[in-house]
Amino acid sequence: MKNTYYITTPIYYASGNLHIGHTYTTIISDCLARFKRLQGYDTIFLTGTDEHGLKIQQNAEKASKDPKDYVDEIVDKIKELWDLFNIKYDKFVRTTDPYHIKTVQNIFETLYKNGDIYKGTYEGHYCVPCESFFTESQLENGKCPDCKRDVTLQKEEAYFFKISKYADKLLKYIEDNPHFIQPESRKNEMINNFIKPGLQDLCVSRTSFKWGIPVNFDSDHVIYVWIDALSNYISALGYKNDEENLMESFWPADLHIVGKEIVRFHVIYWPIMLFALNLPLPKQVFGHGWLLIDGNKMSKSQGSVIDPIILSKHFPIDAIRYFLLREVTFGNDGIFNNELFILKTNADLSNLLGNLVSRTISMVEKYFGGVIPSQKEILDVDLNLINNVKNLKNIVTKNMDELKISNALSEIFNVISLSNKYIDETEPWVLGKDESKKDRLGTVLYNLCESIRVVSILLSPFMPDTSLKIKQKLNYKLDNFDSIENFDGTESGVSINKGENLFPRIDVEKKLEELKNS
Ligand code: ME8
Ligand code: MG
Repeated sequence: MKNTYYITTPIYYASGNLHIGHTYTTIISDCLARFKRLQGYDTIFLTGTDEHGLKIQQNAEKASKDPKDYVDEIVDKIKELWDLFNIKYDKFVRTTDPYHIKTVQNIFETLYKNGDIYKGTYEGHYCVPCESFFTESQLENGKCPDCKRDVTLQKEEAYFFKISKYADKLLKYIEDNPHFIQPESRKNEMINNFIKPGLQDLCVSRTSFKWGIPVNFDSDHVIYVWIDALSNYISALGYKNDEENLMESFWPADLHIVGKEIVRFHVIYWPIMLFALNLPLPKQVFGHGWLLIDGNKMSKSQGSVIDPIILSKHFPIDAIRYFLLREVTFGNDGIFNNELFILKTNADLSNLLGNLVSRTISMVEKYFGGVIPSQKEILDVDLNLINNVKNLKNIVTKNMDELKISNALSEIFNVISLSNKYIDETEPWVLGKDESKKDRLGTVLYNLCESIRVVSILLSPFMPDTSLKIKQKLNYKLDNFDSIENFDGTESGVSINKGENLFPRIDVEKKLEELKNS
């Protein structure tokens, strides 16, 4: 079994502040990466920033800043945001980093020398916000088909990438590798709307603006941002630069997570670049849906956003992570709405998880002086709980392997509900009144502690802070993936402490009012 795992998120346009939609993508990738680490994989989780292009040059001009100073400030904010949301990335690539620039120049030169890039004249419609060229027929009512804004007609000398030469090979690859593009609906869209109608050679250099990586043998030209940006996935592994070379162990990537509007770049341009470089293709590109407000995509350039920093001042980070991972079925669009979010937080995190932990620890304190009792005779009612807890690891793993993140979380919460139900069924408060039932009471509370330990370990990729807090409360030592199979990892005789509530109930009306004013 290959024991390395390489997962990437799109590198963010450093053209403005990030909103909860961007945060969503990164939380998903972080969760998947953390799960792989928990499983014992040697994991690289890559993120970073996409810092070139006309849009950024223009934004910097508007702010009267040098483009590099402009992006430096934004990159600092993005890194702070990732820290705030507990995003544990292994590498952060900036497209202005010298090693990345070197890789991109070397790739461009290699493709030119091999005849895959040639010089010609470009005439076409350019959408600045999308950094994309369109032919006449691709426009919708004369506007950008992606963002519906105005485009400008441009004509200039440019380099072209021979995409057309590789079209058949790409189609065959996609057909031979059914898991390469996921979900299935996106694959069909790519084949029918883009590849089958015919791929045209791609314009891959610009002379009309400066803020980009220069072609090293023709410095009037800067390299098209998508060639620049896509290369991050291998520049970060030391490909054609002087950094440590990790290509051998980590390439091809296991998973590129991308938003649905950029699947096209990842399953057409990127594979063809890799064909031309004679490198293997990533194993999978997964195109997730959008987070919507009022039916529209939340977007930096459209101005309709929910600010994750403001949100984080009102709610625990893990409540936000939980909502995004649980409520949005991965692959589909989802809705972020403050009221839905608060209701879900109260229902699942306060009532189910928070209550289970606080009730259990309170009873260990009340009946056993805060020391975890030992497990004695097992009854049928226990077996139901125990078997469900024992199976949880496999069920969650299976769902995570299939990228069914929301299902994985619901399975964990089923066991949390079951544990609460187990308290109601076993009635520890009744057992506590009868000294002769002390062993039975101890067994019930041991089982609850072990159930919580397993749940807490499995929750760690989704809600790392909460998992850590539960670990501190229950004072458990065994926290590895192997320790959750046999229902025996909790140590009796260990002192535990209740501490603060994990998720105090939120007053819906009051909070909505506060949010309105923030
Ligand atoms: O596309 N809901 O950068 P970006 C969900 N630099 N995801 C959203 C979203 C929303 N409302 N809004 C944005 C770029 N995203 C390029 C990538 S990769 C070589 C270069 C997602 O900052 C979006 O789908 O515009 C994308 O996956 C990511 O945020 C970065 O978007
Ligand atoms: Mg975008």
